[in-house]
Amino acid sequence: MIEKTLLLIKPNATKKNAIGAILKMIEDNEFEITKLKMFRMDNELADKFYAEHIGKSFYETLKSFMLSGNIVGAVLIREDAIIKLRELVGNTNPEKAALGTIRYLFADSFTENAVHASDSSQSAKREIGLIFPE
Ligand code: CMP
Repeated sequence: MIEKTLLLIKPNATKKNAIGAILKMIEDNEFEITKLKMFRMDNELADKFYAEHIGKSFYETLKSFMLSGNIVGAVLIREDAIIKLRELVGNTNPEKAALGTIRYLFADSFTENAVHASDSSQSAKREIGLIFPE
């Protein structure tokens, strides 16, 4: 099934000039980039985007990291986009990310894990609406 998903390139990856390399991996894996922008997250957007994690032990660390620099948001389309992007991105814990995945190549830690990818079609719809409200 043709699906849409959301990719965020997080502040540790934008700071190390990895935007181009990550978007090249996306395009080389047959995703079509249909929306793209650079932005900064604020408190309110972080609390909405990561609502399910509010109150968890890592939340404040995650939030201050997400507010610490530029983020690139992209809406991607392809066959089975959600699962295919998650395969390309790799495990959330970079120590477990498979060789050649985006997190294997660009993550620095569990929090600074280079990218976010939607985990279901429901999440994709919600997250795309938050990052691209227009
Ligand atoms: P992401 O895919 O953006 O979704 C939620 C984020 O929370 C996740 O990537 C990690 O950056 C962070 N995260 C999730 N679980 C943990 C954890 N146990 N410790 C630290 N950070 C976490």
